[in-house]
Amino acid sequence: MGLGVWKSTNQEAQNSVELAIKNGYRLIDTAKQYGNEAGVGAGISKSLTDNGLKRDDVYITTKVYSGDQGYKNTLAAIDGQLDRLQTDHVDLLLMHWPVNDLYNETWRAMEEIYNQNKALAIGVCNFDVERLTDLLNHASIVPAVNQIEFNPRIHQTDVVNLCRVQGIAVEAWSPLGNGKLLQNETIGKIADRHGKSTAQTILRWEIQQGIIVIPKSTHETRLIENASINDFELTPEDMKQISSLNTEEHSRWYDNYQWYGNPDGDPNFIMKA
Ligand code: A2P
Repeated sequence: MGLGVWKSTNQEAQNSVELAIKNGYRLIDTAKQYGNEAGVGAGISKSLTDNGLKRDDVYITTKVYSGDQGYKNTLAAIDGQLDRLQTDHVDLLLMHWPVNDLYNETWRAMEEIYNQNKALAIGVCNFDVERLTDLLNHASIVPAVNQIEFNPRIHQTDVVNLCRVQGIAVEAWSPLGNGKLLQNETIGKIADRHGKSTAQTILRWEIQQGIIVIPKSTHETRLIENASINDFELTPEDMKQISSLNTEEHSRWYDNYQWYGNPDGDPNFIMKA
């Protein structure tokens, strides 16, 4: 499991990263689109010194911004991202969204970035079965990861099954349903029985299925809470009850992100880096 920083400002991201690493987190997930790569870079750099760690002790993920897609633009954008993150390589570079007509050539650029050792692994996000199949038909390198919206309300079973067959790790974004599942009664009851919080129970339901989770929090107590999920086990009946909450509905901003790269659906959106 790791730390997500979507919706965090540079300052918030830096604070979260420092608190997370201090408390044992080793995977940090950011994106150019979040506008906080510089905060993440500053947080990691300070944390390495403060905690006596080496660069290789921390796993850094960032993403290709949809506005940078295309072969040339993707290649041109990576150095700025590495500069902001204060590193000469990321551990994982993901394509943030499958921009139609461009994702295959974007992937070709990502393969080159991988061959240049600027990314030690490459993967995708938000690929459905149709587009993942198409990418696999064109790719030289199979994506290491598909990061998708996944939580008790949305399982994307068809995509997850395809990933399992292809040996692609599945990573969940919004693993807590962006905080909206935390009041759920069904999960609350199961949590009480295990003496755990609702957040811990949801994250446990995910990791017990082999899904990587990157919950976001800016609070130290929650960061510690979210990482403490290896000391209990949900029963098959618990798993089934939580799974029954599935509606397979994406969050309301999903389509806007897909097409415009921002939650408001503003086609003239310019990211403030
Ligand atoms: P905050 O950053 O103020 O702690 P997701 O990762 O699914 O997008 O969910 C993130 C949201 O859930 C954030 O609003 C975060 O708020 C909140 N959150 C994260 N961890 C917890 C927790 N353990 N308990 C309650 N809320 C949490």
